[in-house]
Amino acid sequence: MTDIRDEVRAGFAETFGYEPSGLWSAPGRVNLIGEHTDYNEGFVLPFAINRRTILALGLRSDRMLRIASSFADELVELDLSELDTDNLHGWSAYPLGVAWALGEHGADLAAVPGFDIFIDSDVPVGAGLSSSAAIESAVALALNDVWHLGLDRRTLARVGQLAENKAVGAPTGIMDQSASLLGETDSAVFLDCRTLESEVVDLGFAAAGLELLIIDTGVSHSHATGGYADRRASCELGAKLLGVTSLREVTVDDLPRAREVLDEVTFRRVRHIVTENERVLDTVRTLREKGPRAIGDLLDASHRSMRDDFEISVPELDLAVETATMNGALGARMTGGGFGGAAIALVPTDAVSRLQVAIDGAFAEHGFGQPDTFVVSAAKGASRD
Ligand code: GLA
Repeated sequence: MTDIRDEVRAGFAETFGYEPSGLWSAPGRVNLIGEHTDYNEGFVLPFAINRRTILALGLRSDRMLRIASSFADELVELDLSELDTDNLHGWSAYPLGVAWALGEHGADLAAVPGFDIFIDSDVPVGAGLSSSAAIESAVALALNDVWHLGLDRRTLARVGQLAENKAVGAPTGIMDQSASLLGETDSAVFLDCRTLESEVVDLGFAAAGLELLIIDTGVSHSHATGGYADRRASCELGAKLLGVTSLREVTVDDLPRAREVLDEVTFRRVRHIVTENERVLDTVRTLREKGPRAIGDLLDASHRSMRDDFEISVPELDLAVETATMNGALGARMTGGGFGGAAIALVPTDAVSRLQVAIDGAFAEHGFGQPDTFVVSAAKGASRD
């Protein structure tokens, strides 16, 4: 079997006519729990997965930036002096947006050389597994190395987020890039999105005889449009009306007062964030004290909160979660920004195939397109390969 690394190397050489100086990679992520809490300065518990974006890079002697990939026919070229968010379009806005964002974080873009980059990835696109953060993190790490910037991984996560916010135009939080850069094998990243302090938490799925199953509904979503920004605006409104700078400051004990102050919809949005932060803390505690077999109810409760209070689920995700829990999963929830994408289910190893068959059957019965189901494991974060 050809290694994807050999393919990336070959793709680079064929496109640019010389050998790359190095390979870098960064993973997609699954969020175990803590949804829409990141931009509310709350807690999240994602992990990096064993699906990666890999890039080959060569420095140039001039100031041109050239980007090619195995998933788009075009070769995008831009002079460094023209690097600005207004000039970035399509998929190349992710890698070139990172180059621009490094400039905003102190890189002297007038002094650095240009580059050629060739990208390949096996992170599914549109599945809520952060294929975009994988590209951003790989590019951020690579340019940090070859431009000798000396930025730490937390700052590189901010760089990726800035690219996503300003170059791509999606008002997303810091979770995805943090998971992609800080992930470790068999562990989740417990991140405080206010301070960006993080701890690694052992997942121990394999030792407990469990698998984490992804159910990609195939319903595609984009966070640059619609619902995501709308939910973020509701959270900001809730915080403003409650007189706090972020919903991180609101606790479960404050909810009765919040119910009096807020309209019904804003209240439910706020309740999701407040209870979800609690569930993240509970999940971390439970994983440490009792192990992964004990977190199923927290996953289920998180899904109900997203379905009923935050209203970011879709019928396909609800069906995936319901079918999973009825067929042996210990817990299940949609993961990521919502409005499509994937659900996750925590499943005893010997129940995985039965569950996959049940899910295929349920989707067919409802007239939904066939979902893609596959197992992932927690992998190391971005690296020079
Ligand atoms: C997307 C965003 C993240 C986060 C999640 C929801 O993945 O990129 O920043 O807000 O949605 O938890």
